[in-house]
Amino acid sequence: MRRFLFRIVPLLITVLIMAACVVPPPVPAAAPSSSGSSESAAAPSTNTLNVLCTPQVQWCEGMKAEFERANPEITVNFVRMSSGEALTRLRNERENPQFDIWWGGPVDSFIAAKEEGLLEAYDSPNADAILDKNLMLDADNYWAGIYVGSLGFATNENWLAEHPGVEPPRSWDDLLKPEFQGQIMVAHPSSSGTSYTAICTVLQMRGEEAGWDYITRYAGQVLQFTRSGAAPAKFVGQGEAAVAIVFSHDIVAEQEKGSPLLLTFPEEGTGYEIGGMGIIAGAKNLENAKKWFDWALLPETQELGPTYQAYQAPTVSGAEASLPELLEVNLINYDFQWCGEQKKDFVDKFTNEIANAEALKE
Ligand code: G6P
Repeated sequence: MRRFLFRIVPLLITVLIMAACVVPPPVPAAAPSSSGSSESAAAPSTNTLNVLCTPQVQWCEGMKAEFERANPEITVNFVRMSSGEALTRLRNERENPQFDIWWGGPVDSFIAAKEEGLLEAYDSPNADAILDKNLMLDADNYWAGIYVGSLGFATNENWLAEHPGVEPPRSWDDLLKPEFQGQIMVAHPSSSGTSYTAICTVLQMRGEEAGWDYITRYAGQVLQFTRSGAAPAKFVGQGEAAVAIVFSHDIVAEQEKGSPLLLTFPEEGTGYEIGGMGIIAGAKNLENAKKWFDWALLPETQELGPTYQAYQAPTVSGAEASLPELLEVNLINYDFQWCGEQKKDFVDKFTNEIANAEALKE
């Protein structure tokens, strides 16, 4: 017996050591997470859709849940990313795309993405319902418009009360007034489509020379640039600065949460966004991406926005705008094509000559 134990024990130890060294099965490649914030590997699924989502995270979460309800066989994973970050991500993943569809964010970035071959054309049967096809649908079907929103200014009402005699800004020049020195918050155009819409608005209204001169002075008024376009409305609501430059529907969403914000528009004209959507070139779940694309152009889908505090106007007939007054302001004739084509140059100029993109807040 002892001799048997002498023989069997070392053998057992060897087997145990070998078992401990066995290489674990390969972990599935990291896929976009469904949490919207982290990027851990998604649960392996045979029927998934990976969405690059640029609007506010609450709407992204809502759209995931709504789409899964309508298509129970498909699991949606999404990552929320600002427009410029999304574009960079798509460039980096060109050879091995991790996303199937990009949903939301101003179309300037979709025009840039199309130029760079990052999108896949798709002629959706539901695109017929788009209200203004010249403006809201790419001529080659690389992107479609899914919402519309105007740029506005949000001023903290408590700050106004503490500064008697100071008026909220009602023109682009008002932002340059001494009382707003170090009191303005806006996102950085390298990461944010909102902020890019603002600078491209000014460049169209004033021409490039006077426009860049204005933008240099406007950037000098900024307390801090943020990464995400809507974040300044939140920070100004909390009293961190006096004025935010954001889309007007984001100001309404903050007001609804109880933030003391006053909404004004530049009376000489303001820019606006058409929020876009496009399938990623080389999408691995192409059929599911097409399903989302078709679904996002249904009037009943576009009317879901306000359920998730998204008050952008719809782009398809049959869908009612929840706050039409946000577009009944003096909108400029925004040239999306020009702004999309110039995006890289204008953002580089801003970053290199005016303010670099280090240490952005949220
Ligand atoms: C917010 C707005 C959207 C806009 C988006 C752009 O979520 O509600 O209408 O399209 O910002 O995001 P970004 O962070 O790129 O400015």
